[in-house]
Amino acid sequence: MKNVLVTGGAGFIGSNFINYILAEGSDYNIVNLDKLTYAGNLENLIPSETDKHYHFVKGDICNTELVNYLFVKFDISYVINFAAESHVDRSILGSEIFFRSNVLGTSVLLEAARKFDAQKFLQVSTDEVYGSLGKEGLFTEETQLHPNSPYSASKAAADLMALSFYHTYGLPVVITRCSNNYGPYQFPEKLIPLMIINLIRGEKLPVYGDGMNVRDWIYVLDHNQAVKAVFENGKVGEVYNIGANTEMHNIDIVKLLIKQIGKSDDFIEYVKDRPGHDRRYAIDSSKIKSELGWSPQYKFENAIKRTIDWYSKNKSWWERIISGEYQHYYKTQYNSY
Ligand code: NAD
Ligand code: DAU
Repeated sequence: MKNVLVTGGAGFIGSNFINYILAEGSDYNIVNLDKLTYAGNLENLIPSETDKHYHFVKGDICNTELVNYLFVKFDISYVINFAAESHVDRSILGSEIFFRSNVLGTSVLLEAARKFDAQKFLQVSTDEVYGSLGKEGLFTEETQLHPNSPYSASKAAADLMALSFYHTYGLPVVITRCSNNYGPYQFPEKLIPLMIINLIRGEKLPVYGDGMNVRDWIYVLDHNQAVKAVFENGKVGEVYNIGANTEMHNIDIVKLLIKQIGKSDDFIEYVKDRPGHDRRYAIDSSKIKSELGWSPQYKFENAIKRTIDWYSKNKSWWERIISGEYQHYYKTQYNSY
């Protein structure tokens, strides 16, 4: 069995990762270290909470003593770092917590991994570190880093810190850079869940600027299968881009959701643009395909329907977020240090 410290596992992608890994019966013991910020929700982990290969620890990745203690207590040899402040708009309102959690937190984990001779350290990063594309071209792993928001600058700093630990100390680091995810358990501040929930509630749909910014969408399970492939077989010191070749203008996504949910375009409300709003992201994921044999399994048309269906059938999940009740879900016993 691999003893893996998964950080940020109560968030959107991390919880999907844990639920997928444990349902699959992989040979991992997972220790989920999560601070339970506004984005952390233990209800995302109901499918895994009684699994004997799963432990939850409430805590901050910036806490060196705690992280060192967990390495010893659980005999940790592997780290997958999902923990981060992840929302661009929040980083524009205030950057400090982004630098604390995303940069300092990553360095605390790297130091502990070095101290305890970790076998692999996977840093979950983002395509946003590359900045913005014009009409043509794709981000490759060789594209120069050009982060434009405090969020993406903090993620780029964490990537460089992780790579420096590989070059300086030989720590077996791998980095994944994925495009925009969608799927179950995504916090309803992000475009797709926000629009689905507003449509169900009959509320306006705030589209930033002219709605013509392009994002490259991937279903969260495709991302997590890629994370697993890189974790198990990725070459250390390397970066792997992850994407599903699904570029769409924001306005087209919004109109598609309106159509699927059976509402009218009158709900669209063009609002003031996000400051420094990146125009276009698009990922070239040929490296992970050719080196690791990964490819996305979910077609956008089907996975978006599945996603709408999930938010329609799980109203109580997002209603408890809107009311704030989700932060009081302590049904399970968990270790608290
Ligand atoms: P999220 O905001 O849904 O979840 C983040 C989780 O990290 C939360 O559970 C939160 O409580 C936890 N956390 C935050 N600060 C912490 C700290 N200091 N200590 C311990 N836990 C802490 O984020 P997400 O969308 O699931 O993203 C996960 C990772 O994937 C992030 O690193 C993000 O940069 C990256 N990523 C996200 C996307 C996307 O489309 N959402 C795409 C590519 C990469
Ligand atoms: O590309 C990967 C990144 O994708 C991740 O690293 C980030 O953690 C994740 O939040 C996401 O960043 P974006 O800024 O692209 O995602 P967001 O859902 O916030 O916005 C998607 C697009 O939709 C973006 O162009 C802004 C626009 N938007 C967003 C919101 C919330 C709107 O037009 N209206 C909105 O209300």
